[in-house]
Order: sequence, then C-alpha cells, then structure tokens
Amino acid sequence: MAIRDILTVADHTPTLKQKSAPVEGPVTDELRVLMDDMLETMYAAPGIGLAAIQIGVAKRVIVMDLARSDEDPQPRHFINPEILWRSEEIAVAEEGCLSVPEIYDEVERPAKVKLRYLNYDGDTIEEEAEGLYAVCIQHEMDHLEGILFIDHLSRLKRERAVKRVKKDAKAA
Ligand code: NI
Repeated sequence: MAIRDILTVADHTPTLKQKSAPVEGPVTDELRVLMDDMLETMYAAPGIGLAAIQIGVAKRVIVMDLARSDEDPQPRHFINPEILWRSEEIAVAEEGCLSVPEIYDEVERPAKVKLRYLNYDGDTIEEEAEGLYAVCIQHEMDHLEGILFIDHLSRLKRERAVKRVKKDAKAA
C-alpha cells in the first residue's frame, strides 16, 4: 500500500473538475490496490471519504470510513456508485473536503438516498443511506462529476475559499 498525494484546488482544479469514467469489467486486483492506497491516503490525511480523482485517477471509485475514533475501522468501498432514489426531505450539514483543506461550510442535500454500487469483492449492493453516510456518499459522488462542495456555496464564498487554500499552500 502507498500513500498518494491528494490534489487540492490550490493547483489542481482542472483535474478535480474532470468527470470520472466508469470502471469496466470485473473488480481486479489492480483496482483493489488503488482502493487500498486510497484508504491509506484517506486515513493518513485524516479524512472520512475520498474519491479516486482526488489522487488524480479519473475512475468512479470511492472509499469511506465513518467509524468514530473509539470504534474499530469500518472501511467501505464503492465502485460505479449510482443514486437510485433521493428523498424530498433536505438536510443541512457542515462539510469539508481534503481537496479544499481547512474550509468548512454548510451544504443542503437530500436527507436520504438509495444507492447501488459494487463493493471490494465485486458484489452488487443496494442500500439506503441517511445521516452522515448520506452526506458523505453524495459529497463523494459529486467528485465523480467534477463537483466540489464549494460549488454548492455562493460564488463569493467559493472564490474566498479557493483564495485561502492557495494562500495556505504557498505559505506551507
Ligand atoms: Ni471532497
């Protein structure tokens, strides 16, 4: 396993804005290595979710772990996730993103979603997500479309966020 560089809006906005392509064919060992690397990178950051495009790989692959710090790790893997249903009910949650470090703001999203994806073993899973899981999977699936959480904010807030990330990156 290896920790990869996480791309940020400081200097990788064009990559992060790309739309990711579906994984074709079965889940291979090569794909599992990618997911292992993504999880290791996410844990090291630390973060609770990561999309492959955030390490520069434009594939529809996401990893996540929503376990609390006093719980055992609960790694989740999503290949080619699709949202089958969204609730009309909306929830507001504060979000952050490893590609927009140190910026947090409230985003409105459907409170519940039903999704379908392939897991680490290549099995097709259908399940409902709510709470933090719903927030996180919708945030990560946005990445697959080249959408960042700051794209849900006002233009002023978005520009301010990018400016701050660029300034922090220069200072580092
Ligand atoms: Ni993100």
